[in-house]
Amino acid sequence: RQLPGTLPAAPPAAAVQAAPQGTLTLVYGTQTGNSRLLAERLKQRAEAAGLAVRSFRASEYPVRELKNERLLYVVISTQGDGDPPDDARGFFEFVRSKRAPALNQLRFAVLGLGDSSYPKFCEIGRVLDERFAELGATRLFARAECDVDFEPVAGPWLGQALEHAKKELAPAPSLATITPLRSVQVPPTFSRENPYPSQVLSNQRITGRGALKDVRHLELSLEGSGLTYEPGDALGVVPRNPPELVAAVLSELRLDGDTDVSREGRTLPLKRWLTEELEITRLSRPFLASHAARSSSNTELQRLLTPEGGEALRALLASHQVIDLLRQHPGTWSAEALVGALRRLTPRLYSIASSQKRVGEEVHLTLGVVDYEAFGSRHVGAASNYLSTREAGQDTVDVFIEANERFRLPKDPSRDIIMIGPGTGVAPFRAFVQERAETGASGRNWLFFGEQHFRTQFLYQVEWQEAVKQGSLHRIDLAFSRDQGQKVYVQNRLREKGSEVYAWLEGGAFLYVCGDAKRMAPDVDDALIDIIATHGGKSREDAKAHLESLREQQRYLRDVY
Ligand code: 2AM
Repeated sequence: RQLPGTLPAAPPAAAVQAAPQGTLTLVYGTQTGNSRLLAERLKQRAEAAGLAVRSFRASEYPVRELKNERLLYVVISTQGDGDPPDDARGFFEFVRSKRAPALNQLRFAVLGLGDSSYPKFCEIGRVLDERFAELGATRLFARAECDVDFEPVAGPWLGQALEHAKKELAPAPSLATITPLRSVQVPPTFSRENPYPSQVLSNQRITGRGALKDVRHLELSLEGSGLTYEPGDALGVVPRNPPELVAAVLSELRLDGDTDVSREGRTLPLKRWLTEELEITRLSRPFLASHAARSSSNTELQRLLTPEGGEALRALLASHQVIDLLRQHPGTWSAEALVGALRRLTPRLYSIASSQKRVGEEVHLTLGVVDYEAFGSRHVGAASNYLSTREAGQDTVDVFIEANERFRLPKDPSRDIIMIGPGTGVAPFRAFVQERAETGASGRNWLFFGEQHFRTQFLYQVEWQEAVKQGSLHRIDLAFSRDQGQKVYVQNRLREKGSEVYAWLEGGAFLYVCGDAKRMAPDVDDALIDIIATHGGKSREDAKAHLESLREQQRYLRDVY
């Protein structure tokens, strides 16, 4: 990882040749992998069209070559508060800095990715786009900005990018001749664009009676799909909105669910748009803005949308569903306008809780069901409600595999691993322990798990006990937060076992954290720094740097959300 303001290290000379003229260069910066996916797709299509293409993760791009580039496309996401993705920090800082060269010979285009529920939507793409122009480069075509549901904007942008690249570059004849052969060899696979209808094999509540939370263990079939996954990967689930919520929206707006409505060339009854195609359990900024124009509480909503609205806007978007906005600030919508203004329902990603070496053509999930009271009515999460109400042996769910290269078991099976996964964060560790048992990995496995109550919420208790007995789980430490007067969390257990945790780390152990990003992950981070300081005899500053170096060596990996 690059620190801001430092030049990315030059890659080995053999790996990267200087950009030849007549080459398209793609640079992507990605946190979740979407930008990489899009860049890869463009690369494949450009190669199939006979173009010479180089594609780089931004952290691996040798920025000194920028001045030699002729044709450059950048695909880059923006993190929550307007930050570049981790792998693009160095690139972004360099391009923005005074050290950036004049780029008069360069033709470029930018695709930004982001999440419109944050105020600084696609900020990084915008800044780069403007900065390239400022450095003298020629913008080939307008920047596009994709929301969470990136396909409708990214698809056309990629098409445009390809057409421009074809015009800019003469095809390399040697590649052009072999292309037709190549493209017919690609096997059809299920993917985000073409999900697999998976049979629900089992859907079981695994929290006991009286538990505050409904957590479920789901088993889905991948039979005949050809889909494969690695421990650490996620399952993409295409959800549907609850029928009761769709009915509530229709009745609040006095609209008829059977009205046919068109969007992007497709015509469906309004009810189907709201059930299968559009997001109604989450509120987006653009929808709020459209609603403000249609509501009598106009000025109040407009104020939220000004720059001063920042914090209040974020709080409102995070706590309200579409129905809450409609109820609290009544407004008038036509069916057409509503379908045009809501954003596309996006697949939800769940950490996979099984190893294929153990379960074969199945995939298991640990599902926390989101179900709470707010503003006087019941609220549920789209995907968790949808999944939790699927009947085993009867229903199917549309799924795909989302690879997660950033959360992998050590390549060396003799390495020890420490897994910290309270709540449903335990899911990928069930996969890890299964995988290490099936492959006979010699390294030790240590799990830290936490929940509210031992009696009702010790997720997979029997399996962990079995794994301990079989020798595939070497240590397990538990933190049941509400079984005693004072809260006890996984980080308390980590601190208690600090000297052993430190010894494992010194012995080369890998550290994994999965679960809540807001409170748990930073608290665990803090505990780890303390442990390294105390047991490694280091200042807090040095301990921090040590943890940072584990992160850089990819021995401290997090899958937090
Ligand atoms: P609580 O609900 O009693 O506060 C899984 O959700 C477990 O994580 C629960 O026991 C929950 O405890 C606990 N938890 C809550 N906040 C946490 C934090 N900041 N760090 C670690 N665990 C936390």
